[in-house]
Amino acid sequence: MNSFLGPFRDISPIPFESIWESPSNIAFVKYWGKKGHQIPANPSLSMALSECKTTTKTIFAPADELRVSLNLEGQNNDRFAKKIQIYLESLVVELPWVLNLSVVIETSNTFPHGAGIASSASGLSAFALTLTDYLYFLKSDASENIFFQRASYLSRIASGSACRSVFGGYSCWGDSELSKTTNEYAIPLEVHSELSSLNDTVLVISGTEKNVSSRTGHERMNDHFFAESRFTQAKSNFNRCVSTLRSGDVEGLGIILEAEALSLHAMMLTSPNPYMLLKPKTLSAIEAVWDFRRQTKIPLYFSLDAGPNLHLIYPDSHKHKIDQFITSELSHLSEKIIFDRTGNGPRKC
Ligand code: DP6
Repeated sequence: MNSFLGPFRDISPIPFESIWESPSNIAFVKYWGKKGHQIPANPSLSMALSECKTTTKTIFAPADELRVSLNLEGQNNDRFAKKIQIYLESLVVELPWVLNLSVVIETSNTFPHGAGIASSASGLSAFALTLTDYLYFLKSDASENIFFQRASYLSRIASGSACRSVFGGYSCWGDSELSKTTNEYAIPLEVHSELSSLNDTVLVISGTEKNVSSRTGHERMNDHFFAESRFTQAKSNFNRCVSTLRSGDVEGLGIILEAEALSLHAMMLTSPNPYMLLKPKTLSAIEAVWDFRRQTKIPLYFSLDAGPNLHLIYPDSHKHKIDQFITSELSHLSEKIIFDRTGNGPRKC
């Protein structure tokens, strides 16, 4: 058994209520492919967002069997309740008493569904934080200083990318050459002051729900012809990304951001059961960004999540000019534009 949750194994549930707000994140180096249950095939690195977040209130109470109800934006959502139920059941070896819980969740996002912002990262980390809070309430002598490691561990089991959302700024997850990184949970990464706060402006090119989930996308890496090459590339990009972030090399960082975004989508296009999440307008926006950069030499770069929407990443030094470019040249390609930036991580409400 994993000793990480060991102190919380033999306890009896009592009523408790907790509210946490947790951000989404954008991966600079992508987690795409797993080796075992929620174990990443390569290390990943992400930046926490500031505006795009989920607030979750959870009421825990003893019950004769595990019962979960979930209300999202004022509406009962049985599909998400089922997901949380399955997640809690998956913790039964470490926390057997979860089978005797009633769990009532009320949750809401600051950003629209389908906006190309990972709501699973913010939503599942917000829930995991309320659960961690509950563990610490039940066992108040547990060591506080690993609260966020435990929250990250519990987030990871729910959704890999969620484990990076429990820290502000930048965080890394997965075994790597960097000391202290682990597959079990994410850790925060200190970066150069020049890059400690970046803009992430999201061009919502299509808000329609994607037809292949990330979970399925990870699975398609299992028998992917390029899988091992991709994992090797991601490991190398991870090391380069850490060193550019630490040295404040924005151009170097930008090259990696774009290579990672395009490699992620290349994996989808070349998987045994190929699919495409990019839209014609995504490609037009990428070309416009490249033209702008060539002509102005201004450091504007893009990233992509598993969807068609472009995340535009840039420092404040050229914010005025870049925001003007986005409004005049890119807004006709997007349904909506969300101006976000590096955030400070979760907080208890
Ligand atoms: C493209 O974290 O959603 O956003 O662990 O199966 O829930 P599960 O997958 P998920 O995958 C995220 C994929 C990504 C890249 C990333 O955030 O690193």
